[in-house]
Amino acid sequence: MSIHRSAVIGSGLMGAGIAEVLAKAGQDVIVSEVSADASAAGRARIEKSLARAVAKGKLSEADRDAAWSRLRFTTDIGEVADRQLVIEAASENEEIKKSIFAELDAVVTDPEAILASNTSSMPIIRFAQATSRPERVLGVHFFNPAPVQPLVEIVSSVLTADEVRETMTGFVAEVLGKSPIQAGDRPGFIVNALLIPYLCSAIRMLESGFATKEDIDAGMVGGCAHPMGPIALADLVGLDTCLFAAESMYAETGDLAVKPPVLLSRMVDAGLLGVKTGRGFYEY
Ligand code: 3HC
Repeated sequence: MSIHRSAVIGSGLMGAGIAEVLAKAGQDVIVSEVSADASAAGRARIEKSLARAVAKGKLSEADRDAAWSRLRFTTDIGEVADRQLVIEAASENEEIKKSIFAELDAVVTDPEAILASNTSSMPIIRFAQATSRPERVLGVHFFNPAPVQPLVEIVSSVLTADEVRETMTGFVAEVLGKSPIQAGDRPGFIVNALLIPYLCSAIRMLESGFATKEDIDAGMVGGCAHPMGPIALADLVGLDTCLFAAESMYAETGDLAVKPPVLLSRMVDAGLLGVKTGRGFYEY
């Protein structure tokens, strides 16, 4: 199966990044959002990132224009009917994601189409079961910033067809030029199963007054050669996304390592979500 027509549902931080990656790889891309405002914000995000890629010398102006011309924005999910691949990147809310999958099942006409979720930690099988074609559903998990990070986790549920996993793995490697790894449908898959406990520990360390955020971050940058420390990384990922991932992993495992720190919940209650809102643990 050769994929040319794809769609992304949601154009927040991850959805916009994924749409950009697809368009740069030559895909005809539809980006579906819930409202005109959200769609405009997604457009602006992609435009800004493409401009940054040009400024950094990663993309020519001609390639930027070509990528931009391959993107179409809509607030009508029905427009994704003819797509061969749809990647859901809505906010981390299980009910919203399930209803999107049910809607995709109703509108996408090609029985061979692949329906994927970029969820950071939720069970893929629950989204698969919201459709009449669970064998065509899998997780395709990108990392922030998607245009820069090379990794993509391919997450197969117990019902994902081998052929769907193989097609997506080939597509990610050969068409998108990214590095796929295979993960089971377990809380947090591979990366977030390790990352979320780490971020929660760092926030608990800050909360306890044991160290400042600057020193925690400097510790992991200077001591372990991470590109950024965990507090800054939580801000980059989005504190709401960190909280939702921790909540969903904690609900399923009861592992105290992913019990959401109270400080994280309070930051989210306050609307301080990190880089995307201009203020999280740091100001931007
Ligand atoms: N398009 C293409 N390339 C771009 C770009 C864009 N919009 N913006 C930046 N780049 C390139 C730059 O040219 C540069 O490339 P080079 O190394 O070849 O010169 C590289 O990306 C780094 O960019 P900058 O120099 O502008 O910025 P920094 O060096 O400060 O790096 C960062 C920023 C990439 C965010 C880096 O700090 C980093 O990798 N941090 C860790 C991020 C991380 O861990 N992400 C995973 C989060 S977990 C997640 O997403 C999963 C979720 O489910 C929770």
